[in-house]
Amino acid sequence: MKIIVCKDYEEVSKKAASIVIKEMMLNDELKIGLATGSSPIGLYKNLIEAYNNHLISFKHVTTFNLDEYVGIDRLHPQSYYSFMNENLFKYVDIDKENINIPNNDISKLDSLADEYDARLLGNQRDIQLLGIGKNGHIGFNEPGTTLSSETFITELSEQTRIDNSRFFGSLEEVPKYAITMGIKNIMYAKKVLLIASGKSKAKVINKAINEDITKEIPASILQLHPDLTVVLDEEAACEIKNLDYLNRI
Ligand code: GLP
Repeated sequence: MKIIVCKDYEEVSKKAASIVIKEMMLNDELKIGLATGSSPIGLYKNLIEAYNNHLISFKHVTTFNLDEYVGIDRLHPQSYYSFMNENLFKYVDIDKENINIPNNDISKLDSLADEYDARLLGNQRDIQLLGIGKNGHIGFNEPGTTLSSETFITELSEQTRIDNSRFFGSLEEVPKYAITMGIKNIMYAKKVLLIASGKSKAKVINKAINEDITKEIPASILQLHPDLTVVLDEEAACEIKNLDYLNRI
């Protein structure tokens, strides 16, 4: 594992973007796993800037989002479909055909997970971006999720709904369910890039990368990924005591 500690969120965003930009420059048909939440917004801004400066193109890039809420329309302003459009896709030359976001159409609930798994299986991601929830979730794999899961419909934990209520008008408006890539899908990516910033993530980051691998902290499974890079700001890294050692694993 490689852990990079940056001064602040702005530096985290730049550093994480530079890792993605390098991969895009080496392979213009890159398959990228994308994340939502507030953590990757700065990273996406840097990718848009690199695109505007003609350093990278998304023309032949294929993207796979980690997750989507179930129970709100795709066009709801807080759906991850809208999030990706507002924070990245509408600013770059990506081909709509190459965008994959889990379908959340409740009339097809029984087949949604299998359909996304089929798409993921034939498309190993070259790089998977991840944020982390305060309770250690990745995607929407909440504590207790089996570590060998593939795409599934999940019930969101109370903690996650409270955390994400800042994006909605109230807690009641936060969906109770979501569709998410499973841990197995996430681990199948060639490279994993986890980013976190702020003091509220410090404890969980230390648990995820420095303590036992457990279902209670789904992100802890990432310790077993052969190519994991973690980009943190000083606040998110402040609970890690053995950085040098971890960087050698
Ligand atoms: C959501 C997303 C996760 C994300 C997490 C953390 O629950 N499903 O993919 O990592 O939020 O969000 P933030 O970056 O806003 O702290």
